[in-house]
Amino acid sequence: MAEKLKIAVAGLGRMGAIHALHAHELARETQTCELVAVAEPDVERARRLLTLIGHEIPVFPSVDALAESRICSAAVVVTPTDDHREHAAALVRAGYRVMLEKPLTGTLEADRAFAVELDREHPESLMLAFQRRFDEPLHYAKKLMESGAIGRVFKIFSALEDSNPAPNGYKSGGILPDMAVHNVDEILWLTGRMPDKALAIGSRIYSHALTTSLEDFDDALLCLWFGEDLLAQVQVSRNHVSGYRVETIIFGEQGQIHVGRFDQRLAEITVEAYGPRGRSEPLAFQTFLMRAYNRPLPEFIDRFGAAYKAELAAFIECCRRNAPFPVTHRDGLRAQQVISAGMQSMFGAANATDLK
Ligand SMILES: NC(=O)c1ccc[n+]([C@@H]2O[C@H](COP(=O)([O-])OP(=O)(O)OC[C@H]3O[C@@H](n4cnc5c(N)ncnc54)[C@H](O)[C@@H]3O)[C@@H](O)[C@H]2O)c1
Repeated sequence: MAEKLKIAVAGLGRMGAIHALHAHELARETQTCELVAVAEPDVERARRLLTLIGHEIPVFPSVDALAESRICSAAVVVTPTDDHREHAAALVRAGYRVMLEKPLTGTLEADRAFAVELDREHPESLMLAFQRRFDEPLHYAKKLMESGAIGRVFKIFSALEDSNPAPNGYKSGGILPDMAVHNVDEILWLTGRMPDKALAIGSRIYSHALTTSLEDFDDALLCLWFGEDLLAQVQVSRNHVSGYRVETIIFGEQGQIHVGRFDQRLAEITVEAYGPRGRSEPLAFQTFLMRAYNRPLPEFIDRFGAAYKAELAAFIECCRRNAPFPVTHRDGLRAQQVISAGMQSMFGAANATDLK
């Protein structure tokens, strides 16, 4: 039997609080781990959360203090994106295996430099937290697709739309690296391919009037071209006022698979597949119940709670078995390469066609 993994969570904001809760739950439910510490400069915030989950453990005021402590061998880094590289690197250098929230660093230049550093010195130390890869409805859709149910896939549409702008103080490097990175990784994971070209456009509607979290755009479209046989389109927004929208449609020559048709209910996610026109029955129709936390939480947790927990369980198992991670910095870099190509097309204008 592999030993219990001693684990810490660094950064206890919106997302870190959930990772800490899940680590504590997994410790009780599976005895595979133990949440032994957290790192958070807002010590009061950390103490409030630990009291809420009923688990009193040391609070380190910084990631460096956590790294020096050697109190455990693994950590989840959930600090602001601008600090990802510094915090993850400090822990990795101190010998920790790290699960780092997305995006890797938020910029292509820093991603490349960090990936080179990791590949050279710590190639197996970092798991990147792309929770969609652990989401049951998306897994089911991927299996359907790979079974050939809808024939050869030629197009994917993937939407991620918040009902509100990011909260005051949230630091975003732009709507594409912050949000679309999820969709891009999903598309690369589903297809196993990198696009040849990316093209993006964005608009600024009203988020800037509502929050101090300044972003380049609050609505954006990103088109990916994989050659003659495959296209993908990503739609991200902070303005989907009807509610959190996470939809994926996979189009094949023999039908389509739709994950999460928007209907304002995040508690039930349906995957439905339809064959060619004229068939009366769906090829597949399955509803997945999402976890109820029974307290107000950010909307992404209502949709992806179980996926975040499954992702953490996978991280813990890999650490315990000393196995490679299923998602790494290389996946983060690939997604950012696509995002950056899209942003370049938006800002660079060199090969854009001006219709005015
Ligand atoms: N996978 C997802 O769906 C998802 C959803 C939300 C956020 N995220 C990612 O998680 C990260 C955090 O986002 P958030 O919304 O939780 O932000 P947040 O601002 O709510 O939380 C960040 C926390 O980090 C703390 N912090 C800052 N410096 C620190 C340091 N040196 N050591 C320890 N803690 C420090 C802050 O005090 C704060 O509590 C971002 O990179 C974001 O992209 C991912």
